[in-house]
This record gives sequence, structure tokens and C-alpha cells, in this order.
Amino acid sequence: MTDFASLLVPDRGQQARPIHLVDKDSFAAWLKKRPAEDRALLEAQRFDGKTAYAFAILPRGNEFEVVSAVKNATELSPWCLASLAGKLPEGTYKLAHGQPGKAALGWLLAQHRFDAYRSKKDDSERGPRILVSGEPARIEATVRLAQATALVRDLVNTPAADLGPAELEVAAAGLANRTGAQLNVIGGEELAVGYPLIAAVGAAATPERAPRLIELEWGKPEDPRVAIVGKGVCFDSGGLDLKNASGMRIMKKDMGGAAHALALAQLVIENRLPVRLHLVIPAVENAVSGASYRPGDIVRSRKGLFVEIDNTDAEGRLILADALAKAAEGQPELIVDFATLTGAARVALGPDLPATFVNRDDLAGELEAAAREAEDPIWRMPLWDPYDEQLKSDVADLSNTSGNAMAGAVYAALFLRRFVPSDIPWAHLDTWAWRDSAKPGRPKGGEALGLRAVWAFLEGRYLQG
Ligand code: BES
Ligand code: ZN
Ligand code: ZN
Repeated sequence: MTDFASLLVPDRGQQARPIHLVDKDSFAAWLKKRPAEDRALLEAQRFDGKTAYAFAILPRGNEFEVVSAVKNATELSPWCLASLAGKLPEGTYKLAHGQPGKAALGWLLAQHRFDAYRSKKDDSERGPRILVSGEPARIEATVRLAQATALVRDLVNTPAADLGPAELEVAAAGLANRTGAQLNVIGGEELAVGYPLIAAVGAAATPERAPRLIELEWGKPEDPRVAIVGKGVCFDSGGLDLKNASGMRIMKKDMGGAAHALALAQLVIENRLPVRLHLVIPAVENAVSGASYRPGDIVRSRKGLFVEIDNTDAEGRLILADALAKAAEGQPELIVDFATLTGAARVALGPDLPATFVNRDDLAGELEAAAREAEDPIWRMPLWDPYDEQLKSDVADLSNTSGNAMAGAVYAALFLRRFVPSDIPWAHLDTWAWRDSAKPGRPKGGEALGLRAVWAFLEGRYLQG
């Protein structure tokens, strides 16, 4: 992984190439104060200070300065230096005025590459570094955030053939080994008895890709319990209700929720948040074989509710049902789950906005505020009570779909709610975990969406509170 820590350098007055940030309001005034030759240099590079993320080079002898246009030069967004960081040559840079602040994250992430499957690696060993003054702890926190984001991207981008339930377990074990957290993995007969829905969804996979429940516990028992749950469907073929080719094409990303959960757990532990953490990841492959679970099958869930399988492609909510039930048994003061749960959430909100369902208004408000602050947007959707009865089954306690084509993300969330005791504050993020087209610092492919929002919320509540 990119060595992010080497790219944010404490400012001790080292030599560094200045980066001037301008926006359309400040450009003219800035230009007036520059040496006369700069005007011609900028004109030659067609730099007008208005096109966001455009930049120009101002030679100074053997060295150079940089000027870059941003949308707002007084309030830097996380991504406003990302385009620049992706293009500048190696060397040390510093902002001519002020500090990178939030933009340090984009500086780092712009330099992350997923090149495990490229025979020719990017040959630039090190990218541009930027000087940051102030608390070293701020630098470390930004580096951790970049690492967590990169972890989500890498896990999601890794093909399903190389990232099955066993490899998700390895990723969790790695975190446990590095940090002294306690890992517990349940499979085989114990899974079949204790987590029947997880076992049913994973039944068709080959033995090496057998379903399992991955749990990690960390922190002092006396600290407030927080549970983080993530959907770990390492590939979603749809099962016997098989997806079509285009629907299946990017389903290696269906463990994106688990990747978010793991990355969030990593942030909690590395930042030593004073909580008792319980990470719960149901890991399966939704495959097809003679052992597949079937439409019409009825499975008694961990909680005791009998679930009729209407559609084997609505598998995420099934494995999460048992995982949420397990999380709730610890009586945490908060449960957060991440899941690439429905296509309907994308129809409603598009790829960039995780649909967020919360069973408490105050918690929803705090999450939304944290998301705004972190510039990692989420959007609340309703747990609409009157729809709940649509989850009825003719023969069992409930069905895994509503049987109609509307409000799919809401029904999925209502299904999950049946497995979360109403007295436990709970937030469910139906995230896309994927970027369909690149933006500065954010390549096409696996992406953390909602991770920084929830982290900012937890940090605000438990670290500063
Ligand atoms: N993993 C999918 C949801 C999904 C689909 C995420 C496309 C991202 C892109 C999930 O398991 C699924 O297939 N959901 C179905 C539910 C339906 C069968 C009730 C869906 O959303 O179509
Ligand atoms: Zn599915
Ligand atoms: Zn799925």
C-alpha cells in the first residue's frame, strides 16, 4: 500500500515549492501582487484562475512555483488538491498561505493505486509530498483515514476469485493480530445451528469458500459497547434467482459493506476510541449449485423468526438478519451496519449518496451533521411503518421481499429492522461502495462511501465528548 505517512511532512521550514491557491473571486487580486512576468506565463498556459483544478507552473530559476484554481480558496474541500497531487512531479511542496487541512486527505488518496493486477507497476516510487504544520496527531489521523479508505477500495477491487469468505477472514485476522483485538470465526455445524440464514445463503459455495461469521472484539469491557456490522457477500450471482450478465458484472463489490465495517473498526482501534467494539461480518458467496437454497424454502433465523425465501437474490438482508441479531445480543448502545443491499437505493439517490435508515431522529441528525462536516454525504430515507406489513408471507413469519417493485431500499431496511430490538439505536447505510466514473483523487472502482461520515460521528461522540 502507498506509504501515505511519507507524503504528509511536518513543516520545519524545509525548502518547498509554494502552491498558490486561487479561486475566481481572489484570482485578480492575487495576480496584481505577482511579478510582471507571471501574467505572460499564465497566459501561455491558458490559466485563467476560473477553471477549478486547472493549474500552472511558474518557473523560478531551476525551481518552480505552482498556482492552482480551486472552487473556494478560503475553505478547502477534501478533494481540492487531489487533481494537483496526481499530476505534480516528485518533490516537496507547501501551500503559500494557510494549511492543507481537510485537503490533505485528497492529496494522499490521489496517490493511491490499485495495481496488484498490473504487470507494469507505476514506476514513480514516491509522489509529491506536502508540508503541514500544527499537531503531529492531525497528520497521523489523516494518514489513518487515507489508509482506511484505501483498504475499502482495495478489498472491493480485488476479484471475487481472490477474495472469498476465507480471505475476508484473513483481512479481519490481520487487523486482530496487529492490534491485539480478539477474533472469533464461526463456520460449519456451529454456523448451521446458530446462524441458519448465513448458512443457507452460503450453502452453494465450494468448501474453500464456505460461509462464516467473522467477529472481532476490542476495547475495555467497561466502555460503551458499539457494534459495527457489514454485508460480506464476496460474490452475488443472485443464487437460483440468477442475475443477468449486466446485473452480475460488478458483484465482486457485494462485500463492500464488510469492507466499510472492517475499515471503520480499524479507525476505531487505531485511534483508540474509548468504546467496546464488536465487529460482525457475515461472509458468504451467493453461488449456484445443487446445494443452493431455493425460492420457497423457509429458514428459522437466529432470532427465531421463520423467513420464507421469496427471492434468493435478496440474500444480503438474510445474512444481516442473523448478524444483527447476534450484535443485538451484546446489548450495545449503538449498532451501525453497512451493506450494498439494494439496487433500489441507487435508483432513489444515485451512486454517491448512501441511503441511510435510522431508528432514532436524534441519531439521524447527528449522523447527517457529521457527514456534512466530513464532506462525505449521506441521505436519510424512511423506515416507513405502514409498509412493514408487506413483508408478510403466506406460510412463515415473514418473507425476504415485499413482492412488489417499489421502494425496494425501504423494504430491505424494514426487513432488517425486524431483527433489531427497538430499544437499540441503529443506523443502516445502504451504500454503493463503487464509483462508476473517476473524480480527482477518486478512481473508478471500489470506493468508501459513508465511512468518513460514520467515523466523524463516532469521533465526535466518543473522542471529544
Ligand atoms: N447486491 C444486490 C444489490 C445491488 C444490486 C447492489 C446492484 C448494487 C448493485 C442485492 O443482493 C440484490 O440483489 N438486491 C435485489 C433485491 C430484490 C431481489 C428484492 C435488488 O436490489 O434488486
Ligand atoms: Zn442479491
Ligand atoms: Zn447482494
